[in-house]
Amino acid sequence: MGEQGLTLFSPAKVNLFLRVLSRREDGYHSLASLFQAINLVDTLHVRIADTDTLTCTVPGIPLDRTNLIWKAADLFRRKTALSFHVCVHLEKHIPIEAGLGGGSSNAATMLWALNELFGRPASLLELITWSAEIGSDITFFLSQGTAYCTGRGEVILSLPSLPNQNLWIVKPTEGLPTPQVYRRVEVHTLPNRNPEESLAACRAGQPHYYNDLEPAAFAVQPSLGTLKQRLLHAGFSHVLMCGSGSSFACFGEGAPPFLPGVAIYPARFINRLPGRWYTSLRRDLSLQA
Ligand code: C5P
Repeated sequence: MGEQGLTLFSPAKVNLFLRVLSRREDGYHSLASLFQAINLVDTLHVRIADTDTLTCTVPGIPLDRTNLIWKAADLFRRKTALSFHVCVHLEKHIPIEAGLGGGSSNAATMLWALNELFGRPASLLELITWSAEIGSDITFFLSQGTAYCTGRGEVILSLPSLPNQNLWIVKPTEGLPTPQVYRRVEVHTLPNRNPEESLAACRAGQPHYYNDLEPAAFAVQPSLGTLKQRLLHAGFSHVLMCGSGSSFACFGEGAPPFLPGVAIYPARFINRLPGRWYTSLRRDLSLQA
């Protein structure tokens, strides 16, 4: 067991639409959102070891027990009653505080990796159910890459892959802390769109992209509203903020303009095969199901 290890991709996500329906008693918000995995990925190396260690290729990521990777490991230990230690190395490429779900994806990947390393003591449904205890977005990353998510985001309806789309992810230097954005949401001011209709339109290839968190994020950081306008002027047909920001997903024929301090990543949709993790970033392989 001592030498056993796994290396897995940990993908980012975009929200093709994100509807905020209400503020709940517990302070969370009821959402309805179409989540899609993209091929902007971190790589997670997980190896059974004598002590727990976590290292990361970039500074600024907490490596202590507050990291969702450790929350996932602790959850897995608690639920399975297995006792073990792991050495984890995270190659970070997904920008942080970007609304791309990087931390949640790392946690889901960790749960999958541990389950594989220990001979699958848990079913996928158990991993999915457990994951909601440590965050709202982790559950999605245990789907096959396309899912309609409701509740606070943790109730997933897995969907077949959508037609492939190329997009650009545009990330300004400043990040946005999720709780700060949600605090500024004024639910009663949001357009009363029906998320089921948005879902039907996306599945019919007539995307209805929007993000109800944009007004709140632009109130926290007005430069984001300006950036969105510049991206729309660059010719994209759809520009929408990812999750609670601060990155944007840009669809269509435009070319992202060069802007100082703004990182640009080409991306496309990815899905995984049933029973397998995101081992390939080649979309054609993931469609062989
Ligand atoms: O569940 P997670 O830890 O990802 O959520 C981070 C924060 O985002 C929560 O503490 C809450 O402030 C906000 N949030 C929310 N409604 C959601 C999801 C997150 O208000 N559905």
